[in-house]
Amino acid sequence: MRWRAGRGKGRALQDRSGGLIDDAGDPFTGRRPTSHERLTGLPWDASYHEGPAPWDIGRPQPAMVRLAAEGGFTGAVLDAGCGTGENALHVASLGLPVLGVDVAETALAIARAKAGDRGVEAEFAEADALRLERLGRRFDTVLDCGLFHTFDGGERSAYVASLASVTEHGGTLYVLCFSDDGSDTGPHPVSREDLRAAFDLVDGWRVVAIEPDRIQTRYHDDGAPAWLATIKRH
Ligand SMILES: C[S@@+](CC[C@H](N)C(=O)[O-])C[C@H]1O[C@@H](n2cnc3c(N)ncnc32)[C@H](O)[C@@H]1O
Repeated sequence: MRWRAGRGKGRALQDRSGGLIDDAGDPFTGRRPTSHERLTGLPWDASYHEGPAPWDIGRPQPAMVRLAAEGGFTGAVLDAGCGTGENALHVASLGLPVLGVDVAETALAIARAKAGDRGVEAEFAEADALRLERLGRRFDTVLDCGLFHTFDGGERSAYVASLASVTEHGGTLYVLCFSDDGSDTGPHPVSREDLRAAFDLVDGWRVVAIEPDRIQTRYHDDGAPAWLATIKRH
C-alpha cells in the first residue's frame, strides 16, 4: 500500500540542493519544511487537494471517542495537526473550547466548513506545531492524532519543547501514533521506547501509560496497530 500525497496547486519541486521550492508562491509560509515534506517533496497541504487523505476517515478516531466518553478531555483543548478536524469537532461537541492547528490551509478550510455545517463551535488556525509558543496560549488537554509519528528524531525534541510551552502544569497530552507492534503497520511505526525517549527523559513530562490501540485509515480494514500514550505535564 502506498501512502499517497496529493498533487496540484502550490506543487513543490525539489531544487538541486535538496531544498523545496515552489511554482506558485511559498507553500511553507516561511517555515522550514518538515522531514516528511522533504521526503515526499510536497507540502502537507497537497495531501488534501485530491479528495480525502489516507488518514481522513470522515469521523473521529474511535480511540478519541472512547477517551472523550471516559472524561479524558477537560478545560481548554488543543488538537495539534488537526487535519480536517474530526477529532477536534468531536471534543468541541461536548462543550469544551477547542483550538485545532495545522499547517495545511486546505484541511483547515474543510474543518471550518464542517464546524459551520454541524453548528459546532471550534476554532481552527494555521500554526506550526513545532513553534506552538507563538500561539501565546495554554491548554489543559492536548491531543495529537497522527502527528508525532511524522516527525524525525530531531523534530521530536523540538515538538516536545513546543508542546511544553502550551500545556498547563497538571495538563494531559494524548498521543495516538502508529506502532511497530503487529502486522500491517502504518507508515512511520513508533516503538514504546521512541515514545519514552521523547517524553520520559525530558524534564516536566511523565509518561503515565502507553496502551496498544488502533488507528483507523482508509486503507486498513480494521485499522493499523497504534499506541495511545497518556502523558502528564508536571
Ligand atoms: C496524519 S495527518 C493527521 C490529521 C488529523 N489529526 C487526523 O487524525 O485526521 C497529520 C497532520 O499533521 C499536520 N502537520 C504536519 N506537520 C505539522 C506541523 N509542523 N504543524 C502543524 N501541523 C502539521 C498535517 O498537515 C496533517 O494534517
